[in-house]
Amino acid sequence: MMKKFYIETFGCQMNAHDSEKVIGTLLARGYEQTETPAEADLLLYNTCSIRDKAEQKVFHRLDQFKREHKGKTFGVLGCVAQQEGEKIFDRAPHVDLVCGSASYNKLPEMLIQLESGAKRVTGLSLDTDETFETPLTRRDNPYRAFLTIIEGCDKSCAYCVVPFTRGPERSRTSDSVLRESFELSSMGYTEIMLLGQNVNSYRDPSPAGLDFAALLRAVGQVPGIRRVRFTTSHPRDFQKDIIDAIGENESLCNHVHLPVQSGSSEVLARMLRQYTRDEYMRRIDWMKNAKRDIAITTDIIVGFPGETDKDFEATLRLLDEVQFESMFSFKYSKRPNTPALQYEDHLPEEEKQRRLLILQEKQRQIQIRRNAAYVGQVHEVLVETFNSATQQWVGKTSQHKPLNFTHVSQGPEAALQGTYLPVRVTRAGPNSLVGESLQ
Ligand code: 5AD
Ligand code: SF4
Repeated sequence: MMKKFYIETFGCQMNAHDSEKVIGTLLARGYEQTETPAEADLLLYNTCSIRDKAEQKVFHRLDQFKREHKGKTFGVLGCVAQQEGEKIFDRAPHVDLVCGSASYNKLPEMLIQLESGAKRVTGLSLDTDETFETPLTRRDNPYRAFLTIIEGCDKSCAYCVVPFTRGPERSRTSDSVLRESFELSSMGYTEIMLLGQNVNSYRDPSPAGLDFAALLRAVGQVPGIRRVRFTTSHPRDFQKDIIDAIGENESLCNHVHLPVQSGSSEVLARMLRQYTRDEYMRRIDWMKNAKRDIAITTDIIVGFPGETDKDFEATLRLLDEVQFESMFSFKYSKRPNTPALQYEDHLPEEEKQRRLLILQEKQRQIQIRRNAAYVGQVHEVLVETFNSATQQWVGKTSQHKPLNFTHVSQGPEAALQGTYLPVRVTRAGPNSLVGESLQ
């Protein structure tokens, strides 16, 4: 019987956390996790299909697995598994398991099948109202815990695979979220990251009926939890009471990631984002007028089909107006099954690339200016690691800014990991701050 497994994970934090749950499930069945594929009998690959040539990369890696690890058991999990389904068996006949995230709660049964030698085991149904909850999660980080509150997505943005790969929206009960939060606190975690493709669409299915802001407040009051973060938010359902909750409770981190995707209302309409530029800007105003200094970050797609120079300039102007703390930016890429595939006026690759570079340079200048303003301020940092190359401790502020700092106890033996320290910012770059600890 196979007993050792190796897992490789790509994609978003939801995917990383899914892997933590999958690992926990396997360990509970007596499996042992290995660092390299060579030592393992079962090789799992948790995949992402959000952009580019994700499928090709997966098949390439699967070929490599086959060549180097003949005769072992192979499983493809996650978004490419869901998207490509049984086609994976045709292109990569050595694969034994194909399972999307909506079927992970059936993993124990699927493992039994694999162990008894079954081939072509699948978990591909999206027709579910269940979430993947397990007490067995094996978490990677000892201080910061991911916690899923809502799975799937009902939004159907024209460019996005997620509704096809993660299925319909399903929220967990508030009881179950709070129970897990208390458990995490008692295990020593001090930071919780609430996860969902669309966290602010959260709707408690139990009679308590909490909405997202109420759930956020409740998690923020769990004793021992010093920081609560959440990602990702969709602007359409982003209500002001979320900002009020952050204003009133220091343990709710003053950072909001609110992907705008484009600064042009015309492009937003074709993206089926369900908000206009003005509606987005109203949410920005709420945050700018909040009691606490909220860091706002975003995602932007350039070169969406039909994006004109004027549309693109509207996005550049939006950056000027909002002054985001940081930004993830992407060239539009065609994804299977999505409505935007059928759109006309796809832009040439070079034009998308040109726009991406202009956008990124603008944001870089904004970050240089914004970060310079932090010099002299004192921020509380949750310490993550010691970087021996720079001889600095590495941590994050409540606003999720990387702050690298020196401390009287230099060297990893000081074991500052997991502690919270006040740090004075002494220098700033475009992507991070440098400082010295006051304690
Ligand atoms: N092309 C480019 N970027 C995309 N994103 C999602 N789908 C696509 C696509 N087809 C980006 C969005 C989203 C982030 C996670 O990935 O900006 O917010
Ligand atoms: Fe990738 Fe999206 Fe799937 Fe996350 S949900 S793994 S980003 S495709």
